[in-house]
Amino acid sequence: MPRLAYVNGRYLPHTEACVHVEDRGFQFADGVYEVVAILDGRFADLDGHLVRLARSLREVSIDQPISRAALKLVMRELVRRNAVRNGLIYLQITRGVAPRDFKFPCPKVTPSLVMTTRKATRFASPEQLERGVAIITIPDIRWLRRDIKTVGLLPQVLGKQRAAEAGCFEAWMIDAEGFITEGCASNAWIVTADGVLVTRQPDHMILNGVTRLTLLGLAQALDIPFEVRPFSLAEAMTAREALVSSATTFALPITRIDGQAVGDGVPGPVARRLRAAYFKAMEGSA
Ligand code: PDD
Repeated sequence: MPRLAYVNGRYLPHTEACVHVEDRGFQFADGVYEVVAILDGRFADLDGHLVRLARSLREVSIDQPISRAALKLVMRELVRRNAVRNGLIYLQITRGVAPRDFKFPCPKVTPSLVMTTRKATRFASPEQLERGVAIITIPDIRWLRRDIKTVGLLPQVLGKQRAAEAGCFEAWMIDAEGFITEGCASNAWIVTADGVLVTRQPDHMILNGVTRLTLLGLAQALDIPFEVRPFSLAEAMTAREALVSSATTFALPITRIDGQAVGDGVPGPVARRLRAAYFKAMEGSA
């Protein structure tokens, strides 16, 4: 059976799935998206992702194309038809198709809704888990509404490419004051020299990761001391541990920043505990 994509009400072979050249997602990056992991046939943190999707849509004044219940039905149907047991589902909603004009189309047009899935037998390689991953740091050149999960991802595309060219997994972005904002596609965390887990507060400067929120709850449940505040590159360089979180990495240890070892250069206990606790927590998810 061919892999299928969902495009505006239809399940189409992936190779034939397309949107119009005047889709505002293509013309202006005028759209938002979500990525949800599928673990053992269940969506991880589904409600958190759908709540954030609704918020992103509201913030850019795009109507929700179908109800949340209908979205869930389509997600489940696409996952069923593609027989995905472990993998990812991508949801993209744009303002729709209209002749190119910066202003919103008037009268309104129907938003475009696209979903695709991808199978992943494993999300991280045994080597990545055993040795941790390396990152570089780059200036954060993005706009100031990073709390909206928009498909406008060019700074992150450039950042991830720079990381790949440096043989690294991710790039952490740094704000004008020298504090880490987040990764190109993940939230940033450290465990300080004193053993305190730190991640930046969610405001317009970062995307409030759904995984991040779950991990904070787990840290509390596991009695891991944590602080929600900015941390600088200098502090990260003296940290015991560092990690990234996202729907695709869960909690993944970082062992090198800009070529320098973090702590003793191997994944630490806090990252390992959080990763294990996340998978355990998701066993009971939707
Ligand atoms: N990215 N920050 C940014 C800039 C992100 O793009 C992401 C996720 C996160 C983590 O959010 P969450 O925990 O809700 O996945 C933080 C997804 C995985 C992506 O674009 O592929």
